[in-house]
Amino acid sequence: MSKETDLEEIQHLRRLIARYEDLYRRKNAPEISDFEFDELVTRLGKLEGKYQEHAGPELGIGDDRSEGFQQRDHREPMLSLDNTYDEGDFRAFGERLQKALGTNDVDFVVEPKVDGVALSITYEKGRFVRAVTRGNGNRGDDVTHNIALIQSLPRELTDAPDLLEIRGEVYMELAEFQRLNAEREAEGEALYANPRNLAAGTVKLLDQVEARKRRLSVICYGLGACEPQAFASLSDFKRRLKDWGFPTRNDIPVQRGIEAAWKAVQQLDLLRRDLPFPTDGAVVKVDRLAEQQKAGRTSKFPHWAVAFKFPPDQAETILRAISMQVGRTGAITPVAELDPVLLAGSTVARATLHNADEIARKDIREGDTVRIQKAGEIIPQVLSVVLAKRPADSQPFNFEARLKELGLDAVRVGDEAAYKLRAPSRDMKIRRLVHFACKQCLDIDGLGDAVAEQLIDSKLVDAPVDAFKLNRGEWMMLDGFKEKSVDNIIAGLEQAKQRELWRAIHALGIPNVGMQTAKDLARHFKAMDALEAAKPSDLLHTKVGKKGGVSYESVISGVGVEVSESILSFFSDPNHRDWVQAMRAAGLNLVEAASTTAVTGIADKTFVLTGTLPSLGRDEARDLIEKAGGKVSGSVSKKTDYVVAGEEAGSKLTKAQELGVTILDEAGLRAILGN
Ligand code: IVH
Repeated sequence: MSKETDLEEIQHLRRLIARYEDLYRRKNAPEISDFEFDELVTRLGKLEGKYQEHAGPELGIGDDRSEGFQQRDHREPMLSLDNTYDEGDFRAFGERLQKALGTNDVDFVVEPKVDGVALSITYEKGRFVRAVTRGNGNRGDDVTHNIALIQSLPRELTDAPDLLEIRGEVYMELAEFQRLNAEREAEGEALYANPRNLAAGTVKLLDQVEARKRRLSVICYGLGACEPQAFASLSDFKRRLKDWGFPTRNDIPVQRGIEAAWKAVQQLDLLRRDLPFPTDGAVVKVDRLAEQQKAGRTSKFPHWAVAFKFPPDQAETILRAISMQVGRTGAITPVAELDPVLLAGSTVARATLHNADEIARKDIREGDTVRIQKAGEIIPQVLSVVLAKRPADSQPFNFEARLKELGLDAVRVGDEAAYKLRAPSRDMKIRRLVHFACKQCLDIDGLGDAVAEQLIDSKLVDAPVDAFKLNRGEWMMLDGFKEKSVDNIIAGLEQAKQRELWRAIHALGIPNVGMQTAKDLARHFKAMDALEAAKPSDLLHTKVGKKGGVSYESVISGVGVEVSESILSFFSDPNHRDWVQAMRAAGLNLVEAASTTAVTGIADKTFVLTGTLPSLGRDEARDLIEKAGGKVSGSVSKKTDYVVAGEEAGSKLTKAQELGVTILDEAGLRAILGN
């Protein structure tokens, strides 16, 4: 290779890396795997090593700082880890260490590398004071507000050093990731790419209402500043973490010698798919702090630790066709239809292609052989095309032409990546109608998929509410409908008219408004008219900070920025207002039933719920209180009348005790409600 082409490649790599870093770190929308990213970085490192005199400015890989956050210095820098996928490199790391430390009996701690967001959590005089992201290693973003929502982090430590920086990773459990994505899918929203990006996005949410809905977890593994120094080894420190009640790995067997460490790494490779968090490797660290000191560090990496990364599961298969999936809200997602192939323990026949840009960038074509990947619980992804196997007659994929062929009249709005249907398609209309009638909405007996299809195809129904306008004769026109079945469906529709307000709200299919939010909205607004007429300030209170930063305070539980925007935009569409009008005209109940069980002495009393009650769920407890005429609030203040505390009640209970608020357990609550 000539020097010139090398230098060109350096420039090219630097641009690519900066772009992918931005997608991963700031947009939380990665387009390539970590594995491919690491390959680019390794390649750049090799080339730049050859031409040190041409070294460019630091690329700042890994800097997670974003706008709108207060930045804080770390007392001790948060270093990164050197990465390798190669056993030889790993052994070389061991040999270097043994030489530097002058012994073969080095003790190592081997842990899973948790794929989340690095965090430094500071305790002063034993009190939790703040949580800060890694940032550039020296200075990160203060995310205390969101980390404080994690119940498992102790607030107070007994016998703690005066200053303690605990290092850990905040992540999202795979089950929680799937739960949130299932919710998004049901609401017709774009899915999150992977748990790490969802965790990163959640940590940085300014909207606490939204943050509260997504459960983050944290695991602690490291020590930053500690004054006075109190530990001799990492394993010592981790035992203390456990005693203090921090979430940390239970088993920390110390491995003597690099061979034992390597065995532990391989063990982890076997175990990792059963762990509840996403992991992409193992971290191997020298246990004794004195030896860590002695081994030293570069400006970026310690010499005493290394990350051994497991390559993600990949497979090759043929992409037979690209199909278009239309969500309930009309967003179009291209999907790869694959020859089924076994990958990470399951058969994969479809993979997401994200959007039109992604297909163009990777030049993915029908008939191509593609490499697909599944890491963690990620929806399988098409990584790249195996060009050597491309058929001679292959044609670039024309996204817009395909939409046209399929009769999908779609446009791109603003700078959104997704195409959206201009008007609802047949499929959307069917899904909308099925949703409208489903068990969690108006629960219309007899109106399932098959009937919905017929209603839409026969043009008897366009908007879901049209189902209420059909007469006997029209129902009789449907396949398989006889006197009896028509009687049934008409009875089903009659019953549906009497259902609770929240069901009518949920039935509208407002993006981001799931069942729980519909209930919260019904409780708050008490009537569809009021919801329809809501102004932004009725949904959300805006606060402007001293420094001009804007933050939002929820008025309604479950309604943050995203949800309120959805609601406002939904009702700004005249078609949607017509639906509501038609629902009214059809005689649907659109008001919250007056509570019939008001209990004397409870009217307008304010309750706060905290912890887990033995038999009542949060919502049940809330319903009981509200039915009795009481109010439920999220935070304890002087105005709180009762705090209902269950197991693992946290700071709200402490605050209630401080303020002298009456504290009830479940039995006490039931007693005063006469339940
Ligand atoms: S130790 C001096 N242990 O990996 C290095 N890091 O690529 C201290 N990570 O920024 C890090 N799991 O966010 C350590 N068990 C673990 C880890 C872990 C995940 C992350 C951490 C760090 C990154 C380095």
